[in-house]
Amino acid sequence: SDDPYALYHGLFLPKIAHTEDSLKYFESFKFQDNDVIAVTYPKSGTTWMQEILPLLLNGGDLTSVLTIPNWDRVPWLEETHAAKVMDKLTAPRAFVTHMPYNLMPSTFFSSAAKVIYISRNPKDIVVSSFHFHRMASFLRDPGTFEEFVDKFLAGEVIFGKWTDHVKCWNNTDLGDRILYITYEEMIQDLHGALERILHFLGKHMSKDVLKRVCEHCEFKSMKQNNMSNYSLVPQTIMDNEKSSFLRKGIVGDWKNYFSPELELKFNASISEGLKGTDIAFPWD
Ligand code: PPS
Repeated sequence: SDDPYALYHGLFLPKIAHTEDSLKYFESFKFQDNDVIAVTYPKSGTTWMQEILPLLLNGGDLTSVLTIPNWDRVPWLEETHAAKVMDKLTAPRAFVTHMPYNLMPSTFFSSAAKVIYISRNPKDIVVSSFHFHRMASFLRDPGTFEEFVDKFLAGEVIFGKWTDHVKCWNNTDLGDRILYITYEEMIQDLHGALERILHFLGKHMSKDVLKRVCEHCEFKSMKQNNMSNYSLVPQTIMDNEKSSFLRKGIVGDWKNYFSPELELKFNASISEGLKGTDIAFPWD
């Protein structure tokens, strides 16, 4: 059919990068103990982590982030690129995934691989995602912003309901294998966030090198990096004239999109979705 989405365990996935083969590859993927995986609901800071992780893991050498596209450098394990680039990755390897906890491959659970879960204010996610759906030809037409918010709240979007994603990754048996960090915290104090991640990874970096890494990972520098700003993708697939992938990179853009009524509806739905959990976010 013409529908750009496939259904996988009840989740919509864009067919352009998710195939039967790529999902089989994901399911039987062999994690190594020194692997690091950044987990995100889409539009929460994936691309940012694809820049940050290699630099923190390799002592701040900019070569890989300036020469290898983000999707090959820190691949999504569930996407078709993973199998193609896996042999080229050097340990410690870094990956990203949008998958829920319960669908992770069995070797993930038996390994000591470390996880960084990045969350973001869902109101800013839905704004970012709306613009992404306007520019990416492999996603369903979002309709109006209000219509898209309804689909988001109903989980009729890629990777399902935001509240389900956050809940499953906040209720794991991973102990100190998982670090939680927010997009907002990274915007407020990137240097402090990178120090937290370094400590979690058991890595050290001199002040000067960390400062350089930090500057390189700021929004305005990343927007200039052709290996990370998606300018290598043909315009027929991602139309930068409609919206940039690295769009605004700020906290609180939702205030430009939500009416008071829509905000009430959104808050009620998110609260309902998180009922019975002790998940609390700094932005409410
Ligand atoms: S995706 O499609 O899931 O991979 O998207 P993802 O990378 O998770 O999210 C894209 C949003 O992250 C913003 N971004 C950044 N913000 C601040 N600083 C840096 N360095 C940075 N890199 C990416 C990006 O601009 C998208 O957010 P919006 O709000 O649309 O600008």
